Amino acid sequence: MGGCDTTEIIKKFGTPLYVLDENYIRNTCKEYISALGEYGNGLIAYAGKALLCKKMCKIVASEGLGLDVVSGGELATALQAGFDTSKIYFHGNNKSRQELEMAVKANVHAIVIDSFFEIDLLNDVCKKLGKKQAVLVRSNPGVEAHTHHYIQTAKVDSKFGFFVDDGTAEKAIATIAKSSFLNFLGLHCHIGSQIFEVTPFELAAKKMIDFAAKVKAKLGVTVSELNLGGGFGIEYIDEDRPLTPKEYIGLVAKQVKDYCKTKDMPQPKLIFEPGRSIVGPAGVTLYTVGAIKDIPNVRKYISVDGGMHENPRHALYQAQYKVALANRLDETCTEKITIAGKCCESGDMLARDVMLPPVKSGDNLVIFSTGAYNYSMASNYNRNLIPPIVLVNKGKAEYMIRPQTYDDIMNRDV
Ligand code: LLP
Repeated sequence: MGGCDTTEIIKKFGTPLYVLDENYIRNTCKEYISALGEYGNGLIAYAGKALLCKKMCKIVASEGLGLDVVSGGELATALQAGFDTSKIYFHGNNKSRQELEMAVKANVHAIVIDSFFEIDLLNDVCKKLGKKQAVLVRSNPGVEAHTHHYIQTAKVDSKFGFFVDDGTAEKAIATIAKSSFLNFLGLHCHIGSQIFEVTPFELAAKKMIDFAAKVKAKLGVTVSELNLGGGFGIEYIDEDRPLTPKEYIGLVAKQVKDYCKTKDMPQPKLIFEPGRSIVGPAGVTLYTVGAIKDIPNVRKYISVDGGMHENPRHALYQAQYKVALANRLDETCTEKITIAGKCCESGDMLARDVMLPPVKSGDNLVIFSTGAYNYSMASNYNRNLIPPIVLVNKGKAEYMIRPQTYDDIMNRDV
């Protein structure tokens, strides 16, 4: 990876270890920017929830991307990394007063308002600070994307945002328009994650433009920004067939352009927020195999030195991954294996029924496409340490996040 031999990386940095390929991330950023390029007036904002740290901020900033943050912690990271706040969007269905204050003081480009509670809260925060804040309204177009149930966010039954069809979103905009501290900038929606088709994005875009035309006619307010969220799928297993950024975004952007024309509407600034597809395939996790338990005619388990504390996605979503033995990549896969983590919990699995060469203790397992939502969802469950991240590029391997120590996890104990 990145011109480095993973077995050498393991000798130097140990396992478990997240490894990220910088060039892959940069190339994907470039592909997204060029896909939106023809639209003219747009922005790709990296969704930091997929993986955020100061170095990640620097990488995406240097590629010209904006940033979507969803918590005070993500915002603080971006601020410390010196991210241009005029390219930051702040999301979340229950931002606290402190988080909103932090965002307003930092002059983030827009806060994506998610509830009537937040309209009042943000209005009050701005009043006290004597500042005006630009906002987008998180709207639910009711489009169902075909993906795992738990990661769909834009169905009618959703904790996020204002539903369009029942008039709630319009009511929210009318309320914002009356405030002298909030500046209505436009609409936001996010229809789900790990989506492999363009159609749901096109449907959502159309719905949002129809809605924009309606609020212009009824309330006299202009939608100058349309943020269509992220959710572009990646290949975890062979059956996953992701499209390219050009296929996803190029097509949707063209449709937005054409549809605005037919509606005689000015083209809004168009924003997309990919997270997983920028960083997911850029990452792998490296492990060392320890205990092996072969239950004849039942199942063969191999246990690795990681687990659900550093990759909870199989336990949470039954996520599937491709795996291999990093030290024996050229050998034929003849055994069906289940990969167990080291956490004290039966459900702590990383992959089930995957094919590998006959595994021996001491082999190095690699799980592919773990760059997104692994480190960012890691925990210290069982007081296990969260692995470090090594960034590889042009034959060089360096820490992007240093190893955690036992002192780190005991630091706040009273
Ligand atoms: N924008 C908004 C408002 C979002 O809620 C999300 C993801 C994104 C952008 C980025 O979506 P992406 O391009 O990464 O699919 N933990 C789950 C994924 C949750 C996604 C939540 N929102 C997983 O591990 O699959």
